[in-house]
Amino acid sequence: MEASDGARGAIPEWTPDMSVGNDTLDSDHKAFFDIARLLYDSLADKREQGLIIASTLLILEEYVDGHFLREEKALKAVGYTQLSEHHHKHRKFQARVRAISETYQSGTKSAADDLPDLVIKWLTHHILNEDMQYKRWIRDSAVDPRPLAFLAAEAAG
Ligand SMILES: [Fe+2]
Ligand SMILES: [Fe+2]
Repeated sequence: MEASDGARGAIPEWTPDMSVGNDTLDSDHKAFFDIARLLYDSLADKREQGLIIASTLLILEEYVDGHFLREEKALKAVGYTQLSEHHHKHRKFQARVRAISETYQSGTKSAADDLPDLVIKWLTHHILNEDMQYKRWIRDSAVDPRPLAFLAAEAAG
C-alpha cells in the first residue's frame, strides 16, 4: 500500500490481500474505501456547498456503527478470544470519527479535511493487523448479512 500524498485520486482501493474470509465483512470494508473516496472528492470540490459532505459524514458514521456491530456480533458468536481488545479499538475509532463529524457539523469546516486520510490509514492498518487475526475463526453462518442500516439502528437503539 502506497502512502497517500494528498493528491487528488490518492485514496487507494481495497485489495484482495485484505480479505478476512467472509464476503459480507469484505463488502463492508470495500464500502469504507468508497466512502472515504467520496468524502475526499466532495471535500476537494470547491463548488461543494456542504450538503454532500455532511451526508457523507453521516453515511460514514452509519458504516462505522453498523460494520463494527456486525463484526463484533460475529466474533462473539464464534467465541473469538481477542474480542474485548478488538471491541476497544473499534470504540476508540468510532469516538474519533464522531468527534470530527460533530466538529464539522457545528461549523468548523476544516475539521473534516484530514478525515479521508485518517479513515484509510486506520482502516488499512486495522484490517491487516487486527481483523486479519479473526480470519481463521470466522464462519459465514456467524455473520449477520443484513444491510448495515439495520445494524446501525440496532446499535443506536
Ligand atoms: Fe475490526
Ligand atoms: Fe472490520
